[in-house]
Amino acid sequence: MNYSKEFVMGLPKAELHLHLEGTLEPELKLKLANKNHIDIGQKTIEEVKASYQFHDLTSFLQVYYPAMNVLQDESDFYALAHAYLLKAKAHNVKYCELFFDPQAHTSRGVPFKTVINGYYKAVSEAKETLGIEAHLIMCFLRDMSYESAKETYQAMLPYKDKIIGIGLDSDERNNPPEKFKDIFLQAKKDGLHITMHCDIDQIDSIKHIRTCLMEIGVERLDHGTNIVEDESLVDYVIKHKIGFTCCPVSNSFVTKDMKGKEMKYLLSKGALVTVNSDDPAYFQSYVSDDLYTLASKFNLSKEEVIELAKNSFRASFMSEAKKAEYLKQIDEYVKTH
Ligand code: ADE
Ligand code: ZN
Repeated sequence: MNYSKEFVMGLPKAELHLHLEGTLEPELKLKLANKNHIDIGQKTIEEVKASYQFHDLTSFLQVYYPAMNVLQDESDFYALAHAYLLKAKAHNVKYCELFFDPQAHTSRGVPFKTVINGYYKAVSEAKETLGIEAHLIMCFLRDMSYESAKETYQAMLPYKDKIIGIGLDSDERNNPPEKFKDIFLQAKKDGLHITMHCDIDQIDSIKHIRTCLMEIGVERLDHGTNIVEDESLVDYVIKHKIGFTCCPVSNSFVTKDMKGKEMKYLLSKGALVTVNSDDPAYFQSYVSDDLYTLASKFNLSKEEVIELAKNSFRASFMSEAKKAEYLKQIDEYVKTH
């Protein structure tokens, strides 16, 4: 490899697949547990880390959701998002679109406004304090009911200006995208961007990807690399410039591999593949770590790494003029490094 980890760290980049709740580091988890008098079953960082035992999406989510109990008031949500943004700065993230899961909090009695106001405070000040433009994408938990998603959409409407789009996450098993189709179509009409998780190697992965693209009209696929099973869909995403928010290290935790071969193939065909960290506190890998790990394991050329960084801006929901500015920043960085 003719480039270093420092080169990858310093590359200007965007992050498009990051769950704020997945940035809850053990230190903050214990601090908030203490502050809010919540027994999380672990008392030390080592004990928290030892509880991170998962082999697939379902077992990961079983560890992931109970930890969120420590988030109680607006300042807790602010603290979580602020801590992520500090990390992002260290990885030279210039722009990010961040997922959050309101139902994981409202379902345990935390008001919607507590969640959104806390997160929004952190993202709205980040441009001035950290030089990062940050936006929020509200996700529905697909293993909850359609009615609950609909209620959450209604609760969001008074705060619509605080989010950039709508996403779909959590357990894909038996929860196909069409379950939420009309809410996503409404969101589109309401001027929001739409994206959905198509997790790796799910039952009916390719069918779900086809529904997301052809029936719902998502602008991005979160993960989505199973698309390689259908060449006509690959042609479709290239023609329509649909982005893929891939998360190689996360993949290696919940499946047998990073899906690097698939990412490399899609990239070589000209698809808008991007690299992201998903739930970095749980997989112990922030965005540059993901990019460097993928690059070293799959022998990516410097040009491929640069292309992945450029794609992170191209696949974002920002204006074309802004994209051009960030791409110029990458070119300048490459010239001098
Ligand atoms: N929530 C947090 N991370 C997720 C993932 N990778 N897939 C689905 N839901 C999630
Ligand atoms: Zn995800």
